[in-house]
Amino acid sequence: QQHTRIAPSILSADFARLGEEIAAIDAAGADYIHVDVMDGHFVPNITIGPAVVKAIRPFSDKIFDVHLMISPVDAYIEDFANAGSDIITIHAEATPHFHRTIQLIKSLGKRAGISLNPGTPVEVLDHVMDMVDLILVMSVNPGFGGQKFIVNQLQKIKAVRQKIDVSGRHIDLQVDGGITAETAEWVVDAGADLLVAGTASFTGGPACYAKNIRALRGSK
Ligand code: DX5
Ligand code: ZN
Repeated sequence: QQHTRIAPSILSADFARLGEEIAAIDAAGADYIHVDVMDGHFVPNITIGPAVVKAIRPFSDKIFDVHLMISPVDAYIEDFANAGSDIITIHAEATPHFHRTIQLIKSLGKRAGISLNPGTPVEVLDHVMDMVDLILVMSVNPGFGGQKFIVNQLQKIKAVRQKIDVSGRHIDLQVDGGITAETAEWVVDAGADLLVAGTASFTGGPACYAKNIRALRGSK
């Protein structure tokens, strides 16, 4: 069995020392580096843009997993691609034309992810299953780190797992929001294979990062 991959969200890192933080979480065993981009419009918080992604890119060779919580999104895709993103994930709710946005991401040679808010049904995936490389099930309403895991999203994770298995394609099933050592076990049992964790990765400072990541992986 392959191990559960962990994507620490740098939203919970020390922004004054972002480069060092990324190097430290990489060395501690992070699989992907999860970058939360928020615009104060699609979600009620503002974080970082392409210039920061470009600035931090040299601090890790791991996959840069860039989660765009911005709307409208199309005008910024190329900037995030050029800044060094490996995966670009958009929200199904961020544009009525998310099929087109996924085409755009793929045309730039990047892996494309689609994210579903807690209130969004799985059916929105139906006509993009042949295109996406990652499906992100949000287990909190996006905007902030440190929120409580929404338990009813476990059913959605199971439903998405089935869809992926039926598709026969290699698609990451990512879960984001409120992941702790305890909820990690629930979402892995439901079929997730890539966990975003902000608070749980960065808590306690650099000396704890490796221990934090091991705890999130559990025995799986
Ligand atoms: C929420 C972000 C998450 C967030 C997770 O809007 O997309 O990636 O940083 O933080 P925790 O793990 O603290 O819930
Ligand atoms: Zn995120």
